[in-house]
Amino acid sequence: MSSPIDVPAVKLPGGGEMPMIGFGTWRLRGRTAYDSVLAALAAGYRHLDTATMYANEGEVGQALRDSGLARSDVFVTTKIRAGDAGRARQVLQASLRSLGVDYLDLWLIHWPPRGAASRRLWDDLLQAQADGYARDVGVSNYSLSQLDDLIRSSGRAPAVNQINWGPALYDAAVLSGHADRGIAVEGYSPLKNTNLGDPLLGQIAAEYGVTPAQVVLRWHLEHHITVIPKSAHPDRIAANLDILGFSLTAAQVAAIDGLARR
Ligand SMILES: NC(=O)c1ccc[n+]([C@@H]2O[C@H](COP(=O)([O-])OP(=O)(O)OC[C@H]3O[C@@H](n4cnc5c(N)ncnc54)[C@H](OP(=O)(O)O)[C@@H]3O)[C@@H](O)[C@H]2O)c1
Repeated sequence: MSSPIDVPAVKLPGGGEMPMIGFGTWRLRGRTAYDSVLAALAAGYRHLDTATMYANEGEVGQALRDSGLARSDVFVTTKIRAGDAGRARQVLQASLRSLGVDYLDLWLIHWPPRGAASRRLWDDLLQAQADGYARDVGVSNYSLSQLDDLIRSSGRAPAVNQINWGPALYDAAVLSGHADRGIAVEGYSPLKNTNLGDPLLGQIAAEYGVTPAQVVLRWHLEHHITVIPKSAHPDRIAANLDILGFSLTAAQVAAIDGLARR
C-alpha cells in the first residue's frame, strides 16, 4: 500500500525516495512512542525518524509491523552516536533487530565525531551501504566544512545532512552550500525553535485557514527541505502532515526567511 497522501519525495543517490514530511520520534518513549508512531502511520506518514539515542527503536519497529504496512512502503531512518565509532557494525545489527527490519532506508551519523574517527565511522556507513544494510547513508549536525572534510577524504558525499532548522535559523548560504554539494537538507526541531505566536505567521495562517505550525512546515517544503515534526497528540500528528492543500507565495516565503534577522 502506498501513501494515501501524495507527499513529495527527494530522490537519494542510493535509489531511495525520502518523503519530504517525516515523523520525528525524539523524546517519545514506551507506550507513547508506539501509539504515536501507529497514529502517524494511520494518518499517512510514510517516513519515520529515530536514533539509537532515542531508545525507542523497539517501539518504532513494533508500530511499523502492527500498522500492517509493507516494509517497503515506509522510509525508515535511524542514527548512530558519534561515541559508537569503532563498533558500528554491532550497533547497526542492534538497530536492525530492534526495528525488526533487514535494511534501513537512511543511516545517519548523529553528530560529527572528533578528528579521524569521523572518517572511520563514515567508512563504516559506506560499507554498510555496500553490504545492503542501508539504502542511503548520511550525517547529521555537520557544518559545510565538516561535510567538505568527509567528501575530500572519502570521495563520497553524504546523501543527507539532518540539521536544526526553522525560520529563526534561516541561512541562504547554508542551503545553497548543500545544494552545491548535492546533499539533501533535512530539518529538525521545526516547531520547537519557532515562535508560533509571531504575528507574521498568524497573519499568513489566517489567510489560508491553517495554523502557524502548518505555515512553518509548509515553508520548509517551499525551500525543498525535508521536515520531521514530532508530536504525541493524534490531532497534531495529522495536522502536521496536512500541509499539501495550500502553498506559500514567494513573497511570503521571503517574509518568513526574514524572521531570522529579527
Ligand atoms: N539529528 C538530531 O540531532 C536531532 C535533534 C533533534 C531532533 N531530531 C529529530 O527531529 C524531530 C523533530 O524535532 P523535535 O522533536 O526536536 O521538535 P519539533 O518537532 O519541532 O517540536 C516538537 C514539539 O512541538 C510540539 N508540537 C508538535 N506539533 C505541534 C503543532 N501542530 N502545534 C504546536 N505544537 C506542536 C510538540 O508537542 P506535543 O508532542 O505535545 O504535540 C513538541 O513539544 C525529532 O523528534 C527527531 O526525530 C533530530
